Amino acid sequence: MAKAIAFDAYGTLFDVHSVRALSEELFPGKGPALSQIWRQKQLEYTWLRSLMGRYEDFWAVTRDALVYALKSQGIAPTTVVLDRLMDEYLRLQPHTEAGEALHRLKSMGIRLSIASNGSPAMLDAVVRNAGFETLLEAVISVDPVRLFKPHDAAYKIVTETLDLPAKDILFVSSNGFDVAGASYYGFESVWIQRSTGQMEELGIQPRHAIRFLTDIPGLL
Ligand code: LAC
Repeated sequence: MAKAIAFDAYGTLFDVHSVRALSEELFPGKGPALSQIWRQKQLEYTWLRSLMGRYEDFWAVTRDALVYALKSQGIAPTTVVLDRLMDEYLRLQPHTEAGEALHRLKSMGIRLSIASNGSPAMLDAVVRNAGFETLLEAVISVDPVRLFKPHDAAYKIVTETLDLPAKDILFVSSNGFDVAGASYYGFESVWIQRSTGQMEELGIQPRHAIRFLTDIPGLL
């Protein structure tokens, strides 16, 4: 049985599309497109920067992705707009069942952690905003290794921090590319298949596929 759980942050515990409301308020009719392009570019830039060996932290990557998304919609990326939307990223709402799932797992005595591309300051902000800080033993950022998931180095830091072999860690993510990377690395992988989710075709399947974070106790 797994001795610890590592959760991906963005998209898994926290809803990246909770920025849609402010995007829509600032730019009526463009909120959904802005939010979708922002997230897509954010991920692409993590992969591209890892491939190019040109690491910038997740805050910088997220800001660059926002500039792209705004320009794609014909909106000038002024400092005021960038600051306002980036600030929203520090208080992304948790997915509705996240708090209940973490509390239940914690009461079962399982060690809980986050394993994310996010920079330490970004993760600290969302974790505190959601009131999750007392539930988590560790908030692990890829920042020290200067490579983003799904690079092996970004998963190795998780096993090192938790001081457990990958097979003893349940790695939970709603992001298909992350589930694939974690599965290849050797974690017991769990894919949170949210309503829009489709698994990536990367030659490996997750060990478990569930709909909600609250389904995790049933896997233990
Ligand atoms: C993270 C991104 C992949 O939290 O969602 O690492």
